[in-house]
Amino acid sequence: MGKKILLITAFLFICIAGFPDSGQFFTEGNKDTKPDYAGNNPEKAAILVDLSQHPNAISPLIYGQFIEFLGRCIDGGIYEEGSPLSESNGFRKDVLQAVKELKPTIIRFPGGTVTKIYHWEDGIGDENKRPPRKNLIWGGIIDNHFGTAEFIEYCHEIGAEPFLVVNMATGTPEEASNWVEYCNGTGDTFYANLRRSHGYEKPFNVKYWGIGNEESAVPDAGKDQKVSKYIEDGWQFVKLMKLQDPTIKITLDGNPADLNWGRKIMAEMNPVCDFLSVHFYAMPADSTYDSLLQSVENFNQSFDSMRTIIRTVPGQVKDFSPWYRFPPRQNPVKLAIDEWGIWDMSSGKGTGTYQLEYLYNWADALAVGKFLNLFQRNSDIIGLATWAQTVNVLAPVMTSKEGSFCQTVYTPLQAFRRYSLENHLPIGVTSPLLNDNLKSIDATATISADGKELVISLLNLSVNEAISTKVVFKLPGKNSQLQFLEHIGYTAPSLGSTNTFGKNCVNEIKTNQFQNSDSGFEIMIPPASINFLRFKIKTK
Ligand code: AHR
Repeated sequence: MGKKILLITAFLFICIAGFPDSGQFFTEGNKDTKPDYAGNNPEKAAILVDLSQHPNAISPLIYGQFIEFLGRCIDGGIYEEGSPLSESNGFRKDVLQAVKELKPTIIRFPGGTVTKIYHWEDGIGDENKRPPRKNLIWGGIIDNHFGTAEFIEYCHEIGAEPFLVVNMATGTPEEASNWVEYCNGTGDTFYANLRRSHGYEKPFNVKYWGIGNEESAVPDAGKDQKVSKYIEDGWQFVKLMKLQDPTIKITLDGNPADLNWGRKIMAEMNPVCDFLSVHFYAMPADSTYDSLLQSVENFNQSFDSMRTIIRTVPGQVKDFSPWYRFPPRQNPVKLAIDEWGIWDMSSGKGTGTYQLEYLYNWADALAVGKFLNLFQRNSDIIGLATWAQTVNVLAPVMTSKEGSFCQTVYTPLQAFRRYSLENHLPIGVTSPLLNDNLKSIDATATISADGKELVISLLNLSVNEAISTKVVFKLPGKNSQLQFLEHIGYTAPSLGSTNTFGKNCVNEIKTNQFQNSDSGFEIMIPPASINFLRFKIKTK
């Protein structure tokens, strides 16, 4: 570790003292954008940013979170009645603050697998009259004090879109349709009036609805495990829900383990499928750093087949019988990665319900950075993504009765949301290899909607080597200039470092200096680090 501190110190020294000053510009004059921009040094990395490339919009909904009645995620996590740390409505203040600062754009609720036994009407109205139920999926009791209205209030507090998942297994299409009316109804009808009678005059306007969860999973409590059955039942759910509110956006189940499932959904339900759900947990085969990263990389490889599947159908559905009485899908189908995260089952290190509470270390944080770069790179086909889960269960925020802390994985989740810009700009990356399959430098770029700012998110996954990285720009014309604004980097003492109550292992580096070269600049990226390089694009 001494070596690492030395490297970081050296890096800071070079950045602060070694080069004249900031505010240096790259113009079309100092171009060096030949294909060998990487140079010939295998120890160095190079990034080519060609600003004439066509950017694509990144859905803001890829930065979401998921909460479920599972262990201490909701009860004892975001919600704890009677705790001195809670507001009068039961929301844990410290957790609320941490989740707010995570800035999720969308929150998915109430599950997960628990949707298969969840009946939304248990969680509305007078709290004292709500029936406690046995949580048949995860164990324990759901007292239903946190229900629909509390979820909506939580989303409002955070500034996130609510995303509700309906029960296909022990629920009915009519029950799901009534939930839509309770949330979104504006007329003088039973469920809209019921909401009003509970003190909510204005509709909740829930736009995003999931039809079931992992329905293909055989051991679950579900009944739609054959895709043909899912399609048959799914249509009935969608029809009754859309008849309540034709503007809602529907997520249907995909099944990454069986691409045929997704193909069939596309073939038969594409007129009403806004998002195809994919769940992905990095589950390292042997708990090593390399297998963790490889597990994320495997997901990377499956994107191409998923792209093919959702692109087999037209971007807009035109041929749709008016007798459906609601319009068909108007925009291209996108993926909903509505559960993603790291679930290291083989480590045996978890505690709590199903051993789902465990400490994420810095290696996990780097893997999260790799995931998020991957999402940005594939943002042409990702409509939304929600990290599973939010508090205590596979979570960035952990609690005890006395307090809470943010895990290492909180850092990349928050930083990507803070620094990434609206559009993805494809870039070229050459890098030394970490092993036979993986590169050490993993980078993506985002550009603002007005084209005036650029951010490169860059990971050095090498454990011990700082990597000199050359960034070369190809500017759109002689009138363009690029100004380096700052470098924000995050490191930790070791891959195994973890946070706990009162202890944060993550170091933040901020510099605005760099080493200028003819064609761009060269920067030493510390080992095992997550970085954001910010630039301003100016037109003279
Ligand atoms: O996030 C935990 C569980 O993982 C969810 O309930 C389920 O959908 C998935 O298998």
